Amino acid sequence: MLNKITVVGAGNVGATAAQRIAEKELARTVVMVDVAEGIPQGKALDQWESAPIELFDSRVIGSNGYDESAGSDIVVITAGIARKPGMSRDDLLNTNAGIVKSVAENVAKTSPNAIIIVVSNPLDVMCYVAMKASGFPRERVIGMAGVLDTARYRSFLAEALDVSVRDIQAMVLGGHGDTMVPLISYTTVSGIPITQFLDKGKLDAIVDRARNGGAEIVKYLKTGSAYYAPSSGAVQIVEAIVLDQKRILPCSAWLDGEYGMKGLFLGVPVKLGRRGMEKIIEVTLTADETAALAKSAEAVREPMSVIKF
Ligand code: LAC
Repeated sequence: MLNKITVVGAGNVGATAAQRIAEKELARTVVMVDVAEGIPQGKALDQWESAPIELFDSRVIGSNGYDESAGSDIVVITAGIARKPGMSRDDLLNTNAGIVKSVAENVAKTSPNAIIIVVSNPLDVMCYVAMKASGFPRERVIGMAGVLDTARYRSFLAEALDVSVRDIQAMVLGGHGDTMVPLISYTTVSGIPITQFLDKGKLDAIVDRARNGGAEIVKYLKTGSAYYAPSSGAVQIVEAIVLDQKRILPCSAWLDGEYGMKGLFLGVPVKLGRRGMEKIIEVTLTADETAALAKSAEAVREPMSVIKF
């Protein structure tokens, strides 16, 4: 168990992430930080009051500033506005860049050794803002998107095949947007290639649904975006780091030559351990997947180039 984990943003994603971290006892103290007066304090107290029932000893506290979060081992950044129906993640660009910049600067000042996990959208560009504003090395800035996109893809596959979600192995790479790249060649059911279970038409429909999984939820909720699965995704990364699990998970990482690309965050398989993003794993891709990843990189570079922060 680590000493302290901070979640910035006490909205739906942040509060649910804090609750999951506390229930798994991944830190002695879980701090929820949000600018909205009373919200982090109230939600934290409410969560802490569930401890005698849920049986966890992580203490959850809420704050409007960064004093309580000082010396955090991990900081999960969920702050920012969420999508409404009809909005793309890129529509959030400049507002969220300003918010994430200010958060990352505060984190660098008060928790200089922390590992930052970014959840705010547009994800890959917000990772870049967080890395620039914090000055942290790439090992300590990780974006949560691939875990979520892969979870959606795995859920839909499990449902279509009527098998356990546990037995679906898959990876979704690329940027967190419409250009994400599900790797069909690496999708298996307990090691058996997915193409032995589903024909191309069915697979394409599932890939398409996974690509639009975020928008599907926004359409239902109308007033915001998904948060149960996104918070689960963030906490899976937290857990891999806290327990030094050396898990291989798809995360947004700063590329420095890997996959033939440099100078951007993109979803790739990484090894996660106590040092953060410990290694980028380069897998062999088909020609189609290589082209799709390059297209996805372009979709990240474009908003990155116009960003003001
Ligand atoms: C989603 C948002 C959180 O994919 O990006 O649901």
